[in-house]
Amino acid sequence: MLRIIPFAHKVASEYLKQGSTVVDATCGNGNDTIFLSKLVPNGHVYAFDIQSKAIENTKKRIKSDNVSVINDSHENISNYVNNVDLVMFNLGYLPNSNSNITTTHQVTIRALENILPILNRNALVIIVVYTGHENGMLESIKLEGFIDTLSSEYSVSKYEVLNKKNPPYVLIIKKNR
Ligand SMILES: C[S@@+](CC[C@H](N)C(=O)[O-])C[C@H]1O[C@@H](n2cnc3c(N)ncnc32)[C@H](O)[C@@H]1O
Repeated sequence: MLRIIPFAHKVASEYLKQGSTVVDATCGNGNDTIFLSKLVPNGHVYAFDIQSKAIENTKKRIKSDNVSVINDSHENISNYVNNVDLVMFNLGYLPNSNSNITTTHQVTIRALENILPILNRNALVIIVVYTGHENGMLESIKLEGFIDTLSSEYSVSKYEVLNKKNPPYVLIIKKNR
């Protein structure tokens, strides 16, 4: 069984095409951004974070010219990009950093409401959710409540270890049309 991030990356690598348009909604230290940018050599990755430290860390590591690193909240993604093929959220806070600067259910849900209309047909939103801390658990509950409200225009799957307490997990929202 794959661990959570390798699973999220495998889904992205099987779905993306060389020219796809991708959003990393929480670029942090740039690990996901770099992974995604290698999958779309003729496409583009728009990487967002609200923390200047995260923006610096990601910029320092980027070697290709198919990435734009944007210091703004993911609820504003639609101000920068349209016709998106894949969005990845890796929720929570930057490891070894201020855990108060974290994603919140209010902003994450607002971001999803703004992003879903700008997705291409068959596009994916991959969300890595962490329930091991209080804020993450609340975010998980609210997020799943939001997902319950989605119409049949979307299919949502979940990848989770069942015999572990409060495990991280992956949600995949697919836009069907
Ligand atoms: C778990 S880390 C991301 C890890 C990252 N994807 C990587 O590969 O290193 C979560 C990130 O979300 C960022 N974040 C929190 N709220 C945000 C928001 N509203 N918009 C964009 N980024 C946000 C945090 O600053 C933090 O860097």
